[in-house]
Amino acid sequence: MKEQLAQIKQQAMEALQQAQTPAQLEELRVRFLGKKGELTAVLKQMGKLSPEERPVMGQLANAVRAEIEEMLEKQKAAAHAAALEAKLASEALDVTIPGKSVVLGHAHPMNQVLQQIKDLFVGMGYQIVDGPEVELADYNFTKLNIEEGHPSRDRSDTFYFTDDDSVLLRTQTSPMQIRVMENAKPPICILAPGRVYRKDEADATHSPMFHQIEGLVIDEHITMGDLKGALVTLMKKLYGEEAVMRFRPHHFPFTEPSCEMDMQCHKCHGTGEVDGQVCSTCHGEGWIELLGAGMVHPKVLEGCGIDPEKYSGFAFGMGLERMAMRRTRINDLRLIFDNDVRFLNQF
Ligand code: DAH
Repeated sequence: MKEQLAQIKQQAMEALQQAQTPAQLEELRVRFLGKKGELTAVLKQMGKLSPEERPVMGQLANAVRAEIEEMLEKQKAAAHAAALEAKLASEALDVTIPGKSVVLGHAHPMNQVLQQIKDLFVGMGYQIVDGPEVELADYNFTKLNIEEGHPSRDRSDTFYFTDDDSVLLRTQTSPMQIRVMENAKPPICILAPGRVYRKDEADATHSPMFHQIEGLVIDEHITMGDLKGALVTLMKKLYGEEAVMRFRPHHFPFTEPSCEMDMQCHKCHGTGEVDGQVCSTCHGEGWIELLGAGMVHPKVLEGCGIDPEKYSGFAFGMGLERMAMRRTRINDLRLIFDNDVRFLNQF
């Protein structure tokens, strides 16, 4: 029996040494220590021993059991640690693999141009102001000296909200002139960019919604020379020193005198022709109209409580899309609103 016990111990130890997984260890526990295990089988023979031998063998058997149990625990812990180690190794992050880069967007070309124009005017001392797109006809027309029956008031041109035609989507940013002059004393020097709306079918150069940038400067001794200076400075900064401009007489009800400013066409350089064909960018004109401007009409000043004998001023309104088309060198305005990333990514 003594030999049996010694043999069980040796076998158990060897087997446990080699076991690697928790499952193998459990199998060995059953084999050696279980109810039907080898050690139990030996103990069952205790009855055959003499009363003197019994306690000695009992002690020995208990010692063997204790040793096997101890080894089992030790190996279990080792198997556990090894499993954890393997798991950690397989799940480890390789921090040296290059990451997936995040694609950053950028400002829309329209906003880029707008920001640039704002920066230039802020640099000249202008203040940026904002106003309502849903406007009163009073501000959009009447106070700007646009009389009843003027074609621009027509329902076929303007989006009205009310049957009496008193509330509308502003057709121009010029009502901001009135809003500012009614609330501030000269000197006034503001820039008012924003959306405007007209009942136009969309085509290469028209959209029912577009953007204007209104400018207004009121002080003593303001002249047309100041107007030209401000606008020429802007255009040369935006389009380069070589940009060629012209001022052309025009009529607007809210300015007197009034003018329009054109820029020489960047496609045909003023000739109106490209490769013997009529230039498609300026339609053969050689010039592209950029804005309307003029000296604020005395009636408009008076209506806002500003003395036209003491103060004078200039105003201008430019189309932002027109400015952006020139900057981005595109000839279809709809590209600006389509927001196709293949287009936008070019700027
Ligand atoms: N509001 C005019 C338009 O929509 C543009 C304009 C012309 C604005 C003359 C002005 C100006 O401030 O003085 O066509």
